[in-house]
Amino acid sequence: MAIDLEKILRPIDSPIPEFPPKLMTLAGGEEMVIRQVGREEIPDLLPHVAPLMHVERDFYNIVASRVYAELLGFYTHRVQDEYVLVAQIDGELAAIVNGRRVSAEVGMSYHTLALRRGLRVGAHAFAAKMEYHIDILKQKEVLIVAESPIGFRRWMIEYKLEKRFDIPHELGGVPSWALTSELYDKARSSLVVGRRPVPEHLLAKAKAGITAPSDPPTPPIDLLAATRSLGDSTATALIEQRNKLGGS
Ligand SMILES: CC(C)(COP(=O)(O)OP(=O)(O)OC[C@H]1O[C@@H](n2cnc3c(N)ncnc32)[C@H](O)[C@@H]1OP(=O)(O)O)[C@@H](O)C(=O)NCCC(=O)NCCS
Repeated sequence: MAIDLEKILRPIDSPIPEFPPKLMTLAGGEEMVIRQVGREEIPDLLPHVAPLMHVERDFYNIVASRVYAELLGFYTHRVQDEYVLVAQIDGELAAIVNGRRVSAEVGMSYHTLALRRGLRVGAHAFAAKMEYHIDILKQKEVLIVAESPIGFRRWMIEYKLEKRFDIPHELGGVPSWALTSELYDKARSSLVVGRRPVPEHLLAKAKAGITAPSDPPTPPIDLLAATRSLGDSTATALIEQRNKLGGS
């Protein structure tokens, strides 16, 4: 008898409520929509994440590589109970956040990736993800880690997260931090912004298509130049590499 292996490989997602779309006005006056995307929209996100795998600055490379894998994992049904939210400004992709439901009471925050800098779109998208876990899924806490100093400032310090160092986080097994529902309530008035419902025409524009970020972080001409320069203040290694590439 033929076995349908795909049925064994695929986890069965738990039925959970969706994130209700929200709208916020950014410091520069732009309107940003945050909404949940399904599997069918993942192929529209991947091409905008891939180039960031080569942006070493601010740890975009490791975060984008992991986000790419997590989006593929979601698309191909290889992760249990994952969700993905996107932030869009006039259709344009501004941020991606994702995570998963571990149990009825505990959520796992995966990543926050800002594709437009300097407007706190990442901070707002992260807040929406916490709102999803605590207000919509009614979870008691969310396990979080930071892979970058900016992330640490934004999450651990701004929300005053609690240590859960006895729990290895799914991102690399590093010690977890937690946003509890009590901490979320304290942050609610200052960090969680936005309004509902999103006006029909703005939601329709966002759903009509995810368009390319207009000013995403870009890689340097010399990949890994920042890391190399740490132990190579005269840039000799770079010059040698260029010579090799140039064939001289
Ligand atoms: C962490 C992250 C989501 C925060 O996004 P954000 O809230 O929109 O904030 P930005 O990254 O735009 O800005 C962060 C700081 O850099 C400054 N900044 C602004 N424009 C910048 C630019 N073009 N380049 C570098 N830094 C910039 C900002 O002024 C801000 O300073 P502040 O903390 O004093 O406000 C985002 O930096 C990011 O995606 N980083 C790479 C991936 C990552 O680390 N994700 C989190 C994993 S834990």
